[in-house]
Amino acid sequence: MTETSLLGQLKIIEDAARTATGAAADSAALEAVRVEYLGRQDGKLSLVLRRLGSLSPEERPAVGAEANRVKGVIQDALERRAGEMAGAVQTGPAVDLTLPGRRPWVGARHPVTRVVDEICEIFRGLGFTRVRGPEAETEWYNFLALNTPLDHPAADEQDTLYLQEGMLLRSHTSPVQIRTMETHEPPIRVVAPGWVYRRDTYDPTHTPTFLQLEGLAVDEGITFVDFKATLAEFARRFFGPGTEVRFRPSFFPFTEPSAEVDVRRVGTTDWLEIMGAGMVDPAVLANVGYDPERYTGWAFGMGPARLAMLRYQVPDLRMFFESDMRFLSQLGSEGGPGDGAA
Ligand code: DAH
Repeated sequence: MTETSLLGQLKIIEDAARTATGAAADSAALEAVRVEYLGRQDGKLSLVLRRLGSLSPEERPAVGAEANRVKGVIQDALERRAGEMAGAVQTGPAVDLTLPGRRPWVGARHPVTRVVDEICEIFRGLGFTRVRGPEAETEWYNFLALNTPLDHPAADEQDTLYLQEGMLLRSHTSPVQIRTMETHEPPIRVVAPGWVYRRDTYDPTHTPTFLQLEGLAVDEGITFVDFKATLAEFARRFFGPGTEVRFRPSFFPFTEPSAEVDVRRVGTTDWLEIMGAGMVDPAVLANVGYDPERYTGWAFGMGPARLAMLRYQVPDLRMFFESDMRFLSQLGSEGGPGDGAA
C-alpha cells in the first residue's frame, strides 16, 4: 500500500459516507451507515487505519491525520442528520388527539357596560329614549350654552384637553342636553351615556376618562315633584325596594335649584352620592330657543362606573379599566350583545 492510494481511499470513503448519511431515511438506516464506516471491527475507516502499518514511518503521520479528519467529517454528518430527523418528528402530525380540547373563548359585556344598559333600561321603562352626542365638542355646547361662562369656577373644575379649531374633549355629557333640545321640540325625555374627559387625578374613585350618563326631561308643567319622584323610582329599581333617597342642596350653573342625590340601601348605614341633578335653569332653555315661561324640566348626571362599584362591591374604580381578565371574569356575565357606552 502506498501513501497515495490510502489517501485516495480515504477520499472515496468520505464521499460515500456523506452520501449514505444524507440518504438515510430513519435512525436505523443512520445507525447502519455509522457501523459501515466507523464500526470498530469492520468499519471501512478502521480497515484503512489497520493498513497504516504497511507504510513507512515518514508516510504514516500524514495518512493518520487525514484519517482522523475524515472520521470527524463523518461523525458531524451523522449528527446533523440525526438532528434533522428529530426536528422532523416535532413538526410532524399537527393534531395530538391525547391532548384535552381547547375551550372556546366566551365573550361578555363589560360589567360597567352592563350597568349602563341596565340604567338605560330602567329609564326606558319610565319613557326615556337613549341618545348620544359627540366626544369632541365646542366651548358653546360644553360650557356656554349650559350657562357656564368660561371664567366661571365651575369651568375650572372641568378642565380638559383642547383640540384644534376651538374643539375640546367634552368634560361631561351635559352638552347632549343642548344638542337634543336644539333638534327636538318638547316633550323630551332622554338618557345619554358616554365617555367624558377631565383633568383629574387617577385614584380609587377618579379616572381622567370616565363614563357619564346624562338624563333630561323637559315639557310643559314639569315640577320638582316629577324630578324627585322619578329619580327616587330609579334608585329603588336599581338598588332594590326600600332604598332611601336624599336630595342635598348643591350648585350647577345649568340647574336651579341643584341637588346631589344620595341613596341609602336597605340594611346599610351610609349615604352614598350617586348623581348631580336639578331643575333645568331657564337660561339654558332660552339658549336653545325654548320659551322658559312655557317649559320646565329637570336633569341629572351620574357615573355608571361608580354605581358598578356599589353593585359589585369593587373598592377601586381603576380595576374596571385595566382589562385584567382575572378580575373581569369574576364579575360574571349574562352574556348578550352590548355596544359599550353609546
Ligand atoms: N355635568 C355635571 C358634572 O359632570 C353633572 C350634572 C349635574 C349633570 C347636574 C346634570 C345636572 O344634568 O343636572 O359634574
